[in-house]
Amino acid sequence: MELQPPDPPLSDGVVTLRQWTLDDVPAIAAACADQEIARWIHQLPSPYRESDAREYVLSTEAAWRDCLGAFFAVVEHASGAVVGSIAMHVLDRELANVEVGYWTAAPARGRGLTTRAVRLLSGWAVDEAGAKRVQLRADVRNGASLRVAEKAGFTREGTLRASGFNNREDRRVDYAVFSLLPGEGS
Ligand SMILES: CC(C)(COP(=O)(O)OP(=O)(O)OC[C@H]1O[C@@H](n2cnc3c(N)ncnc32)[C@H](O)[C@@H]1OP(=O)(O)O)[C@@H](O)C(=O)NCCC(=O)NCCS
Repeated sequence: MELQPPDPPLSDGVVTLRQWTLDDVPAIAAACADQEIARWIHQLPSPYRESDAREYVLSTEAAWRDCLGAFFAVVEHASGAVVGSIAMHVLDRELANVEVGYWTAAPARGRGLTTRAVRLLSGWAVDEAGAKRVQLRADVRNGASLRVAEKAGFTREGTLRASGFNNREDRRVDYAVFSLLPGEGS
């Protein structure tokens, strides 16, 4: 797989996916202060500080360079405002297996923006980056994320029972596994 940032940025006219810059740090920190993000992405630091956001942006630059993944700010096309984050992590470079992950800031939820971002990213992953399998995992309790996966055209394959651990809630996590293959999706 080759990972070159798309130029021009990916867009469907409503959302645009572009690379992160350090100017985005305050928007990331404000969004990630939300408990809903902390709840479902339990790997994130909590409380989430601007220094965490800064570290994240710098880590995405290095990860792009090392071909570990593709990391995008989800921006509302009309206003240019950052509304969320979406990333494609390379699970196996030789097999071209990747996994998508995302969050959307609370005020921007419920407008279909995440579904648009997942469609754009997975389309780019298979058409341009050469991915052969795009995987998506969501806690079986995370109704909104399960719905995004379905709406974006992913197929639910099953459940990885007790395969994660949420240290905030002190419980093992059942992950629903979805995938999208070349030629599928919308
Ligand atoms: C999951 C998340 C990204 C969804 O963002 P969003 O922009 O609201 O997503 P969309 O608007 O594209 O679609 C959301 C869908 O979920 C539905 N939904 C919302 N809350 C729900 C719930 N508790 N149970 C079931 N469905 C729910 C919405 O009604 C909508 O479906 P619809 O279009 O059929 O009505 C957002 O809630 C979020 O950032 N959550 C915290 C972080 C997170 O969970 N990330 C994913 C980790 S796998």
